[in-house]
Amino acid sequence: MVVSVVVGGFFGDEGKGKIVSHIVNSKNISIVARGGVGPNAGHTVVIRGTKYQLRMVPSGFAGKHVEKLLIGPGVLVNPEIFLKELSVTKVKGKLFCDPKCGIITEKHINQDKTDVHLTGIVGTSGSGTGPANEDRVRRSLRLAKDIPELSEYLIDVPLIINDYIEKGKEVLLEGTQATHLSLWHGTYPHVTSKDVTAAAICSDVGIGPTAVSDVIVVFKAYVTRVGSPKADKMEGELTETETQRRGWEEYGTVTGRLRRAAPFNYNLAKRSIMLNYATKIALTKLDILFPEDRGTTDYSALSNEAKQWIEEKESKLGMRFTYIGTGPSDSEIIER
Ligand code: GTP
Ligand code: IMP
Ligand code: MG
Repeated sequence: MVVSVVVGGFFGDEGKGKIVSHIVNSKNISIVARGGVGPNAGHTVVIRGTKYQLRMVPSGFAGKHVEKLLIGPGVLVNPEIFLKELSVTKVKGKLFCDPKCGIITEKHINQDKTDVHLTGIVGTSGSGTGPANEDRVRRSLRLAKDIPELSEYLIDVPLIINDYIEKGKEVLLEGTQATHLSLWHGTYPHVTSKDVTAAAICSDVGIGPTAVSDVIVVFKAYVTRVGSPKADKMEGELTETETQRRGWEEYGTVTGRLRRAAPFNYNLAKRSIMLNYATKIALTKLDILFPEDRGTTDYSALSNEAKQWIEEKESKLGMRFTYIGTGPSDSEIIER
């Protein structure tokens, strides 16, 4: 059993990209495959000092043993972003998408940026993913196989992944968005345009549930969300001034919008653990709460305050954090 799935436990931007970029090397991953909605996601990964902002290329692109980077048929592709990131990350020969990936066009982006419901009520990322998924449901959306510029990057993603699984190679499935943005399980209507829990990520890339060995749910030390209007306030949501005072301010990778912030939320976390049937959990941004612990890679070296904070969370959640982020770089992490 060699397939691990990484998903977000709150409202996205938990730092899944950073956790994935660590796991690809610590577990000798051969294939990283992206599930999730599409280029509405923005992962920031810092690899040996260089910062990459990715919307299409899987965050595990720099893994030493990675042979293939795949985008499953359930994921929407924006060809322009795909080709640009292919060149920035220098992964030609490794990066492929499935011929059945849906294609986002200017029309979808315009709709996403002008539709009153999408901009006003949902507060979407404006990347065209919702309108493209509407067309997919109507069965009128064009697919990657119809796009000449993508022809050399097409591969049967489910076939390749299942072949690697049969050979006993390690596969990592990278989810995007997060559990509470799921169209089924999230805070409807302030959600994304499909399910994004672990089960959906498997379906996006063409893997059956019995192939999965680990489901890793990623939480941040506090909760953030972007886009949806103030009417959908989070429990304990901070004012902008208080967010800044605590040093919790973050700006969206895709939209540049200030992310709204609230303290770590047990109810949301427990529900995510349940909905994804987590086998492992990860925590990021411990260093934002405890700056003296920045860069620590050894649990025993953490300050007593940080350990106490973590142990309180673990006892209430009934699970231990396997990965703990202590800085943005792929090396700033504790694994236990
Ligand atoms: P989505 O797929 O869009 O949900 O994104 P994501 O979960 O990959 O997270 P994103 O990269 O959008 O946001 C996380 C931010 O936190 C990035 O700027 C990361 O570089 C940063 N980050 C991740 N882990 C840590 C950490 O442990 N400490 C600090 N200080 N920053 C971190
Ligand atoms: P859409 O997915 O662009 O349609 O946006 C729907 C909602 O999900 C909005 O509140 C977005 O801000 C949010 N969202 C979508 N993708 C992400 C993500 O990757 N990180 C954080 N929020 C996201
Ligand atoms: Mg993000």
